[in-house]
Amino acid sequence: MSAYADAIARRFGDVGPSGEGVEDNAFVRQVLSRKTVRRYSEKIPDENLLDVLIAASLSASAKSDFQQASILRVRDTAKRAAIGALFPAMPWIANAPVFIVFLGDARRLQRIGEMRGKPVRNGTLEGLFNASVDAALVMQTMILCAESAGLGVCPISVIRNEIDKVAAVLGLPDLVFPIAGLCLGYPQTEGHVSLRLPRPATTHLDCYDDSGLVAAIDDYDRRRDARHAIPREQQRSNAEFGEVVFYGWSEDKARQAAKAEGAAFPPYLRSHGFSFD
Ligand SMILES: Cc1cc2nc3c(=O)[nH]c(=O)nc-3n(C[C@H](O)[C@H](O)[C@H](O)COP(=O)(O)O)c2cc1C
Repeated sequence: MSAYADAIARRFGDVGPSGEGVEDNAFVRQVLSRKTVRRYSEKIPDENLLDVLIAASLSASAKSDFQQASILRVRDTAKRAAIGALFPAMPWIANAPVFIVFLGDARRLQRIGEMRGKPVRNGTLEGLFNASVDAALVMQTMILCAESAGLGVCPISVIRNEIDKVAAVLGLPDLVFPIAGLCLGYPQTEGHVSLRLPRPATTHLDCYDDSGLVAAIDDYDRRRDARHAIPREQQRSNAEFGEVVFYGWSEDKARQAAKAEGAAFPPYLRSHGFSFD
């Protein structure tokens, strides 16, 4: 049997390739079984370990070698409390032993242009996108390395919903913006591997084809519900959409996406050096 069969079955729960004959690789198996963790034990991660994880995360690929990601660790207790207080519904933001913010940083390249007397204009959509991708890769590298070292993590993009206040606490200059924070600590609870969409819905061969989407989503909803049903009390926006008997993943995500989020982010970016051109 494939070294990956159990992990792939746990992740997708459907029939599909399971890596028959592929050599075992502990890191890949770890990634297949990764999960977000929001409750942490009292144990504080070692500072030297954090240094290594930061070095590893900054080893991520970087578009054009521009290296437009920065990492801001929030260690000051008053700053942590100030950010945590903005999001009382997510107490793990204030409580996690370690909190790091991943920044898209288009400023550094702009400054390098000035240093070298060149006309760098990095507040374009290209600059914004490149810095966002770089920062996301650095964050994901941190996530996977931290998890492989036994830590549990939770990315926190909700900080962008209060971008002005968060940026003030962190002293962010023009052309620097958070893509997300990251809570880190040792897991207090086991948690569970979240079932992913069936691979035929998210992978394509040679041309894009989503003709099977409706059936795939219905099937996924049923299988996911059988494994981890969304409790009745967690149904969103019942006043607007009503309570339903079968409340699956797609109903939940459609309701979530019906509520606009992140309205403060575009004006923040526009007033901090980005033109979107
Ligand atoms: C970019 C990004 C932002 C996220 N922001 C938040 C957040 O603000 N708060 C939170 O509790 N979880 C957040 N998450 C965690 C997701 O909810 C989680 O990854 C998702 O439910 C899938 O679960 P899994 O990672 O265990 O597979 C975020 C994840 C990503 C990748």
